[in-house]
Amino acid sequence: MQVAPSILSADFGHLARDVEAICEGGCDLVHVDVMDGHFVPNLTIGPVVVSAVAKAATKPLDIHLMVENNSFFVDLFAPLKPRYISFHIEEEKHPHRLIQKIRSLGIKPAITLNPHTPPEAIEFLLEDVDMVLLMSVNPGFGGQKFIPSVIAKAKRLKAMIEKINPDCLIEIDGGVNDENVKELEAAGVDIVVAGSFVYKHPEGIAKAISALK
Ligand code: DX5
Ligand code: ZN
Repeated sequence: MQVAPSILSADFGHLARDVEAICEGGCDLVHVDVMDGHFVPNLTIGPVVVSAVAKAATKPLDIHLMVENNSFFVDLFAPLKPRYISFHIEEEKHPHRLIQKIRSLGIKPAITLNPHTPPEAIEFLLEDVDMVLLMSVNPGFGGQKFIPSVIAKAKRLKAMIEKINPDCLIEIDGGVNDENVKELEAAGVDIVVAGSFVYKHPEGIAKAISALK
């Protein structure tokens, strides 16, 4: 299992230190939650702070947009050369066009689905993306409870991916811990995002990451 710790649970007073800690602790990606205060009822970080994250990181960035104007935010973050940019399908009128734009900037495009959105909503986009991010909480905040219906959704999505685009990865975000990770792996999930489990683990960050792996 690949692990993408969410820096939303880091200490923003010591952000570089906390980004270095997950990279040294063996993470695969650095998950960055960008919230605009409109699509979700929370506001996080923009390109000024994320460029400091990129400087401290020795692993690729995985930028999760939770915003209203996706194309504008893609332009803001593209210069930081993240590996992935994911956008919410619920918020995009022209997802196919946006996917092409992200790819033309040398970034792997990914689509995010809220807990209520069925995988069939993106059936005709699957061949064009490198990853699908399934939310297992309502986006906006770290530390929420895992919504178990995402497991059935991941299984359905996995079956679709096998037919349409076997290289496409499945990532899960929200409430992931060392208990539900086994079921996620069995459902076909490739990458787990974890914020509070990684940053608040009593035995430290490296131990938390290896427990998820
Ligand atoms: C929620 C974010 C998540 C969140 C995960 O909107 O997308 O990445 O930080 O945090 P935990 O693992 O604490 O649920
Ligand atoms: Zn996220």
